Amino acid sequence: MHSETLIKEKLPKHIAIIMDGNGRWAKNHSLKRIMGHKKGMDAVREVVKTCRELGIKVLTLYAFSAENWRRPQSEIKALMSLLKLYIRSEISQLHKNNIKVNAIGDLQKLPKDVLKLIKDGFDKTKNNRGMVLNVALSYSGRDEILHAVTQIAGKVKANELTLSGIDEKIFSQHLYTAGLPDPDLLIRTSGELRVSNFLLWQIAYTEIYVTDALWPDFKKENLHKALLEYQQRKRRFGFTDEQINSG
Ligand code: IPE
Ligand code: IPE
Ligand code: MG
Repeated sequence: MHSETLIKEKLPKHIAIIMDGNGRWAKNHSLKRIMGHKKGMDAVREVVKTCRELGIKVLTLYAFSAENWRRPQSEIKALMSLLKLYIRSEISQLHKNNIKVNAIGDLQKLPKDVLKLIKDGFDKTKNNRGMVLNVALSYSGRDEILHAVTQIAGKVKANELTLSGIDEKIFSQHLYTAGLPDPDLLIRTSGELRVSNFLLWQIAYTEIYVTDALWPDFKKENLHKALLEYQQRKRRFGFTDEQINSG
């Protein structure tokens, strides 16, 4: 049976979103791609606000992948400008709403002024406990895993860690997402059925929801729909239905 109301206890703790389709949205409206990204910022604002109101603990947004550096310089430049605009205009409101801002990815590749704004935002909001807004920038899941492997190998070499001491928990602690729970729900907009190098380790048991809506059209109602469907899912983690039902 489909329940139309959200059950607070059954909401995901961590939602991750691949915000895709800005370019197609712009094309559909006979606009330049960058206008799609601009409109996408409004969708970010609305989704962040809605997640905070619902009491979601972590929201991870895929804003720019390591592979997106392959795009035309003009689009990259415009995206970086929009990012600065977003941080500058939103940080006070995010802080007021008790949201902690965090970024994951190869941040050193970002332009210095963008990096500085992110660091300032991080410092300003680091004691907030309402929600973590985790933004993936210059992010690649494979890079993240390699980075963790390198860190761990270094520790083994320095005798700070033994080979038998390496387990999933230790590994997770060396990822950019250290300290955060794995996503319960992964949303991708614009109908694309792939993960595009996003959170490869962390989504092992994440529920996946794909909608045809393009990111700039993704509103509060779309998020509600995704959450309603999430609540109908049966997460088995390898157990049988009978085992799950008997609690
Ligand atoms: C997502 O929208 C935003 C980024 C990847 C930065 P796209 O720019 O990928 O939009 P489409 O996929 O071309 O429609
Ligand atoms: C994934 O979207 C990255 C972000 C949403 C930031 P892309 O548009 O870059 O993904 P592909 O290239 O279509 O897989
Ligand atoms: Mg795309």
